Amino acid sequence: MLKLKKILAEKLLCGINSISSESGLDAANIADMLEYPPDAAMGDLALPCFKLSKSLRRSPVQIAEVLASALECELLAKVEAVNGYLNMYIGDKFYSDCVMTAIEKGEKFGAPEFGKGKTVVLDYSSPNVAKPFHIGHLGTTVIGHSLKKLHEFAGYECVGINYLGDWGTQFGKLIVAYRKWGSKSEVEEGGVDNLVELYVKFHNEAEKDKSLEDEARAEFTKLEHGDEENLALWRWFVDVSLAEYKQTYKLLDIEFDSYKGESFYTDKMPAQVQKLRDSGLLKIDDGASIVDLEEYNMPPCLILKRDGSTLYPTRDIAAAVYRKNEYKFDKAIYVTSAGQSLHFAQWFKVVELMGYDWYDQLVHVPYGTVSINGAKLATRTGNVILLRDLFAQAIEKVTDIIDEKNPNLENKKHVAEDVGVGAIIFYYLSNNRMRDINFIMEDALSFDGNTGPYVQYTYARTCSVLQKSELVDGENKITAAEERALVSVLSKFEEKVIEAIEAYEPSIVTRYILDVAVAFNQFYHNCQILSAEDEEVRRTRIRITKAVNTVLGNAFSLICLKKTEKI
Ligand code: ARG
Repeated sequence: MLKLKKILAEKLLCGINSISSESGLDAANIADMLEYPPDAAMGDLALPCFKLSKSLRRSPVQIAEVLASALECELLAKVEAVNGYLNMYIGDKFYSDCVMTAIEKGEKFGAPEFGKGKTVVLDYSSPNVAKPFHIGHLGTTVIGHSLKKLHEFAGYECVGINYLGDWGTQFGKLIVAYRKWGSKSEVEEGGVDNLVELYVKFHNEAEKDKSLEDEARAEFTKLEHGDEENLALWRWFVDVSLAEYKQTYKLLDIEFDSYKGESFYTDKMPAQVQKLRDSGLLKIDDGASIVDLEEYNMPPCLILKRDGSTLYPTRDIAAAVYRKNEYKFDKAIYVTSAGQSLHFAQWFKVVELMGYDWYDQLVHVPYGTVSINGAKLATRTGNVILLRDLFAQAIEKVTDIIDEKNPNLENKKHVAEDVGVGAIIFYYLSNNRMRDINFIMEDALSFDGNTGPYVQYTYARTCSVLQKSELVDGENKITAAEERALVSVLSKFEEKVIEAIEAYEPSIVTRYILDVAVAFNQFYHNCQILSAEDEEVRRTRIRITKAVNTVLGNAFSLICLKKTEKI
């Protein structure tokens, strides 16, 4: 569709220039003005001419009429001027070509190429070690991974970084708690759960006995100074946690290119602090070192505490400088909850003030909160829903559904995993990322709503049609309105991908998948495919089904949804 828009824009520009040579418009401006009418009766593409009225000094009605009579394009079946709109009806050749292109290009169909030769670094998921990996991390994990897939699809070289929260005073607490109440075998058996229990116990006990906090601080200081025993414990806690996170990543098919966490940047911070000092940006405020951001309407960015220890922004600045040198990124994306927006705005500003000319390549992608059946989470009390449990619950429920509806399905366990995980991802990514979401498991798992199971079922349906048929050579013959409507949706795939990348919004892909699924199911119910009598019609419909299979498959992988061939 993008190509067609371009062709039409060039032609329309000629028409516009014939009215006035001083419009100041180029073909790209006109392509941007083209709209998809809400109703097929108004054509497939329209130019709202009131947008041109001022620069051409004519009424929209006049402009539409002149353009309608001048526009000639073999790809259009009809052009009409209606109330200041130029309505264009796309001819069947375009749709037929689109089907063939989808089949030929396969996995590359819909892929924009503007990322070629460029590198994007994506910082996402990044749980805090020894604290639970909970549903609050669902957003950063799936939005982050989807943005990685989208950028890869557009040709970018992508580096996925899991910036583990593997350093900080919580390790002092954990070391104290472990020595007092823990045991090797319990940690080995219980994994992160046991570490979280110890962490929670520490907080409960510290309420009664304040000296525990001092002990924890002392242990962390020892750790910072390289105490062997504490270092060994710390490394072990990190390993135990990571092993568990990796199980969840495996379930979601997520791999990271780097797990360099916060601890990695400890020795990289002093140079940046010195640079800040040298450039006169650091101010001492009540003993702490800060960068004043009042001029930019933000509270100061904290760089060093009174005791000289570093802070979250200090580490992020050092990490960004390191990554710029290491990966020479063209863009660095950070996906976190919206609660951290100020933090990112502050340190991005500090990077700019430090004179790093790449400050404008830093992008923060925030998202809203998640609750489950209305319940919010609280980390301190240990009252959380773990990501692992959320997925396990979905998989269990899907297993029950399969046992009931299709007990002889091959590979039941696998399918239940793909559908259960997919249901959660799809449900989560159906909303604009800034929206706060209340998770209702029944809704996510339903087979007849706008859900993951519904679209995966649709994909399986295309597979089953294709299994029973063969693609044969010959002309296409598009005959039904359902075919046209369906292929018209397919032709918009690349535009949707571009929109999703530009807005850092995977939900654009999710909703597009629904559009394809709905259009395919209408086609499937109203048009005979394998039993169509006319050979050309049958051949075309099989090809359309193949094109749908390609587009759904490509779009699924952009939002980490598995292609289920049988459900
Ligand atoms: N570990 C942090 C958290 O769980 C998220 C880290 C985000 N990335 C970053 N570079 N600050 O809140």
